[in-house]
Amino acid sequence: MPVYILAIESSCDDTSAAVFADTTMLSNIVANQQVHKDFGGVVPELASRAHQQNIIPVISKALDTAKIDKKMLQAVAFTRGPGLLGSLLVGTSFAKAFALGLNIPLIEINHLQAHVLAHFIQDKDEQRVVPQFPFLCLTVSGGHTQIVLVRDYFDMEIVGQTIDDAAGEAFDKSAKILGLPYPGGPYIDKNAKAGKPVFTFAKPLVPGLNYSFSGLKTSFLYFLRDQLKENQLFIEENMNDLCASMQKSIIDILMDKLLKAAKHYNIREIAIAGGVSANSGLREAILGLKESHHYNVYIPQFQYTTDNAAMIAVAGYVKYLQGNFAGQEMAPYSRGGI
Ligand code: KG4
Ligand code: ZN
Repeated sequence: MPVYILAIESSCDDTSAAVFADTTMLSNIVANQQVHKDFGGVVPELASRAHQQNIIPVISKALDTAKIDKKMLQAVAFTRGPGLLGSLLVGTSFAKAFALGLNIPLIEINHLQAHVLAHFIQDKDEQRVVPQFPFLCLTVSGGHTQIVLVRDYFDMEIVGQTIDDAAGEAFDKSAKILGLPYPGGPYIDKNAKAGKPVFTFAKPLVPGLNYSFSGLKTSFLYFLRDQLKENQLFIEENMNDLCASMQKSIIDILMDKLLKAAKHYNIREIAIAGGVSANSGLREAILGLKESHHYNVYIPQFQYTTDNAAMIAVAGYVKYLQGNFAGQEMAPYSRGGI
């Protein structure tokens, strides 16, 4: 008999629930919150209210889609942090009550570890090749940019990270400057496909394996300010090329340090994770390492790049096998590492 686990993710603005049989995904339901669109960013108070409204329908749908009765569940896994505290409280409280009601174990999961462990998710009809330990994972999302040295499922070390903006923020802030909707990453990606990276912007000079993106954003802003003085329609007329140029700049910065890390640690297993790993240019660049460096590369399926409960479920399964359970006193945390 497989181990059936229900997982809940509510760390930011997506309410998600998944049902797994061991590492196999039976359902993965995500409710995006549209309420933030008008504000150009996530409004924490609105996010927790929307989670409260979404959580029961999302969990019901996850169980229905998986065709699993709640009595068949053997554990409930939930995102404990890091994230928005009010959002995390909704998922945490629900998970605790559900586990208590069913008298099954509770499993707490670190959101950033889960993004990395998304590579171990299996689909019903396709056996995927998973990374071998140790591997390097570039986790790039709206809140994080990290090069993670993954020695084992829960033995991870951040060997490089951003000292200011995250890569996703660099995408979203540039998109905002261009007048694109929030979150802008997917819009930049879409426009970039029809453009050419003809413009160049300042490259950060950060030592070691760390990243910086705030200078790039400023350079972009000043470049546009100067161009707009000459031609008020500069953005409209060059939208696709601007998106392609900004996307290439961000990817070049990401790839440069990732390659340095691979050489430094002599690791040939390379993975990417997090919302920005949905970016088509970044996926292409990572896939290119297969040819250019003969690395083994791992790219998550689209549905496991942005926030989702499937990654919480697969991480929960490993902890279930370890008997690593959480108590009812477990509280969420907003900040923290991997
Ligand atoms: O992992 P995620 O869903 O949430 C966080 O934990 O932050 O990542 C969201 C980020 C946003 O900044 C969004 O713009 C970015 O991922 N993103 C993309 C793409 N799809 C999502 N950035 C670039 N290209 C994309 N296709
Ligand atoms: Zn995330």
